[in-house]
Amino acid sequence: MVEARRSRRSCLAVPGSNPRFLEKAKGLDADQVFLDLEDSVAPIAKADARGTVVEALNSGGWGETLRVVRVNDWTTQWTYRDVVEVVEGSGPNLDCIMLPKVQTAEQVMALDLLLTQIEMTVGLDVGRIGIEAQIENALGLINVDVIASASPRVETIIFGPADFMASINMKSLIVGEQPPGYDVGDAFHYILMRILMAARANDKQAIDGPYLQVRDVEGFERVAARSAALGFDGKWVLHPDQIAAANAIYSPLQNDYDHAEDILDAYDHYTSEKGGARGAVMLGDEMIDEASRKMALVVSAKGRAAGMDRTSAWQPPED
Ligand code: GLV
Ligand code: MG
Repeated sequence: MVEARRSRRSCLAVPGSNPRFLEKAKGLDADQVFLDLEDSVAPIAKADARGTVVEALNSGGWGETLRVVRVNDWTTQWTYRDVVEVVEGSGPNLDCIMLPKVQTAEQVMALDLLLTQIEMTVGLDVGRIGIEAQIENALGLINVDVIASASPRVETIIFGPADFMASINMKSLIVGEQPPGYDVGDAFHYILMRILMAARANDKQAIDGPYLQVRDVEGFERVAARSAALGFDGKWVLHPDQIAAANAIYSPLQNDYDHAEDILDAYDHYTSEKGGARGAVMLGDEMIDEASRKMALVVSAKGRAAGMDRTSAWQPPED
């Protein structure tokens, strides 16, 4: 079973055909990097890019960064060779395969089966390599629940706004921004919520897609803040300038993190024999109960995964 709670606040996209960019990505502070064989690689460069990606993974230097390769989608001729060459060539140095344009659960199962065969053949732990599923069109969104539960390897459900906007004929070319004419809310709300529900119902992470205006860090922050507010775990970054913004926006605020840890400690204490075995108690001016603990667990898990430290700690009252 794959580990479910790895921090993915910033997921850096790097074209798999560019050794210089791949080398540069190693020194950056992104939680995840994905080496792309899909849309950022020209069709005539795809075959060679596989070797470039294998080389970059095997040459090390990635530190704690999650290493992911995005293969081409199952409607192309490239997918199986992408998976075979990358996993056979660099399996021990790879955490997940990202599958774009997923439309059905069967497409996830097909990748799962292929991964299992390769793992058995080359002697890797069966099931360790995870799957990240990108939802990029209407059919994928309609099937997102069964896609999320199609394999225990699935770790994340990712929104692909550029392909999605094209697939539903949205009247805009500016990825991530509201389409002109839609002035009554957030045109992406339903899609984001649908993905988030499928992710949460199946204990997966929900990841927001790219913001293409890479020089507009404020725009990135504005759009990222929306999905972070809903509960998304992270967002793609296309440029080093977007990394710090994503790491900050998808981490809890320091106060919230401290408070969440206080709630957990206080709740542990008061529900124990020593603390009076109570279920609902006051923490300062706030009433906390089992539901507060659940909310605190979420914030605490995100903070811990992001490597945050407490700046203060609740103490039980003296006897
Ligand atoms: C990403 O793949 C997108 O289509 O937005
Ligand atoms: Mg796409």
